[in-house]
Amino acid sequence: MTMKNILSPSILSADFARLGEQVKEAEDAGAEYLHIDVMDGVFVPSITFGMPIIKSLRPRTGLVFDVHLMILDPIRYIDTFIDLGAEVLTFHEEVAREPKELEALIRKIHERGKKAGMAIKPETDVSVFKPYLHELEQFLVMTVRPGYGGQDYMPETTEKIRQTRKMLDEAGIKADIQVDGGITDSTLPVVLDAGANVIVAGSAIFKGNITDNCRRFLATMGNT
Ligand code: DX5
Ligand code: ZN
Repeated sequence: MTMKNILSPSILSADFARLGEQVKEAEDAGAEYLHIDVMDGVFVPSITFGMPIIKSLRPRTGLVFDVHLMILDPIRYIDTFIDLGAEVLTFHEEVAREPKELEALIRKIHERGKKAGMAIKPETDVSVFKPYLHELEQFLVMTVRPGYGGQDYMPETTEKIRQTRKMLDEAGIKADIQVDGGITDSTLPVVLDAGANVIVAGSAIFKGNITDNCRRFLATMGNT
């Protein structure tokens, strides 16, 4: 099924001293989402940022806040992130000790009228998506190990994108497939062809000229 392509620049690679300006530039160049990586130093080794950054950015941009929660116990923070302006909330399948926890997360996000996404690390099989095909608006196939920007795309993840799109198509479901990590001018056509439609890119957008980078990406995505 053909889905609308969306560009979601990841602020992890932005210049934090000029964050507001750089986000505006990406928005003016045609991005629709803003990817916000929240890391807790436990689920992933690194620590990034949280509430204050989201709060200060919210009045500065109309971009959809696409929050990628690389944290344990994400349910504790769902309400706060939504209060601060998160619109798409993606948690990791691997954080759950039992399916009940995933169901509770999805329910909570939906009760607040927001889009729910589930992410899987490169080593997690796409079959974990199966019970939730009808429950989620977004499936995030990580194309690098979560934790850092600027890593190389893992080619073995292409097949996982393809399998996820196949599962959705066979079930007649129109849902977003997001890819995150190592998306560059050379890997973008590969993930699009495999069925991804929400494209996260950090270094490829924020290193160099942001406007040019967004426009080039959007042209490849057919969003001109
Ligand atoms: C990595 C993060 C990504 C990161 C991608 O764990 O989830 O969103 O910003 O960065 P690039 O596009 O540079 O690989
Ligand atoms: Zn991310």
